[in-house]
Amino acid sequence: MKVEIVPSILSADVGRLAEQVKEAEAAGADRIQVDVMDGHFVPNLTFGPQVVEAVRRATKLPIEAHLMVERPEMFLEAFAKAGATLIEVQVEATSSLYRTVQTIKELGAKAGVAINPATPVEDLRDILPYIDLVNVMTVEPGFGGQKFIPHSPEKIRRLRGLSSKIEIEVDGGIDAHSAPLVVAAGATVLVAGNSVYGFKGGVAAGIKAIRKALD
Ligand code: DX5
Repeated sequence: MKVEIVPSILSADVGRLAEQVKEAEAAGADRIQVDVMDGHFVPNLTFGPQVVEAVRRATKLPIEAHLMVERPEMFLEAFAKAGATLIEVQVEATSSLYRTVQTIKELGAKAGVAINPATPVEDLRDILPYIDLVNVMTVEPGFGGQKFIPHSPEKIRRLRGLSSKIEIEVDGGIDAHSAPLVVAAGATVLVAGNSVYGFKGGVAAGIKAIRKALD
């Protein structure tokens, strides 16, 4: 299965967002992720639907809206209308995950579920048949540039054991060092913020470094 690289705009220069998104697309990024944070579910505040609209205008790539927010069901329609191709919610942030996933799909987007480092993958067993992607958070969400949590590959292996088909995404501290570890464990979609937008050689070099590490 092809490994996809998904730059997240959290570490991008938002004053040049369209340009930074185009740079990533030109450098071979497969998708773009918008990290949505509400200051409640995570101790940080970032982007709303209008930023997804701006990214939509800047690229033809699929856009993932990662909702690190309480009660994500309140925002599904706004992000779908803004142009998100896939909407992912945190399993810890909603008491009605089945209905939330159904609503995302009724809105015409793909459905993803993200799980924090302390949440067992086995908690997803009964929602797996209904979703397109699981995002295994490899940091505690809230900020870019954090350190990859070492137990993550073991957790990815357990998830791959529950489903051979599901897209397994990883998010947080993914770079040329951690990328081979998570792919060997079964991950197929790599979210990369700081290792792309914070890479000293620039965006294209950052994406290239991750791809090279996977060769
Ligand atoms: C949660 C955010 C970050 C971001 C990637 O904190 O969702 O994981 O996408 O951050 P990096 O790649 O900079 O660790």
